[in-house]
Amino acid sequence: MLLVICLVLGIIVSANVSGQPHARASDLYYTDITPVTDDTRYTALNPDVKLQEMNKVKHSKGNVVFSSGERTPGDRLIVNHYDDESFASANDIEVMMSYPAGASTGVTLTCIEVYVDMTAEDAGGYLTKGGIGQTNAEILLTSNLTRSFVYETFIYGY
Ligand SMILES: *[C@@H]1O[C@H](CO)[C@@H](O)[C@H](O)[C@H]1NC(C)=O
Repeated sequence: MLLVICLVLGIIVSANVSGQPHARASDLYYTDITPVTDDTRYTALNPDVKLQEMNKVKHSKGNVVFSSGERTPGDRLIVNHYDDESFASANDIEVMMSYPAGASTGVTLTCIEVYVDMTAEDAGGYLTKGGIGQTNAEILLTSNLTRSFVYETFIYGY
């Protein structure tokens, strides 16, 4: 009986908040933080791709924020995703993220922010497909000769 009450309460609670969908990292496809060589980096495998550099703000050594677009009235957090990796020696690394992971969610993207922290001084952040004002985006992060890489991604839309 108690279980049934809990279930019913749970359904009522989740129904109440479902008007404002929660950010779901499951809508995002992403690769591991992957060591690459000059032969396996994204631009080597996709020589025809046009990389669109994201806005970049360096806060301090090894701490960079990439952004595209800006928060807009009525938008909401669509994706919040975090990953980190450490290596025994310095590696060139890449991460690919793609929103949405599957079929279109119908969400128009307003703002993308990626906070990056690493032992290397610098990183690259690029849009390889889609972006602000569109319903999809593909984001490439790169860093050379780094022993660690930590990032958190926020994607907003309406
Ligand atoms: C990493 O190295 C590659 C190949 O030398 C270069 O094209 C790229 O701009 C470098 N990336 C960063 C973020 O410095």
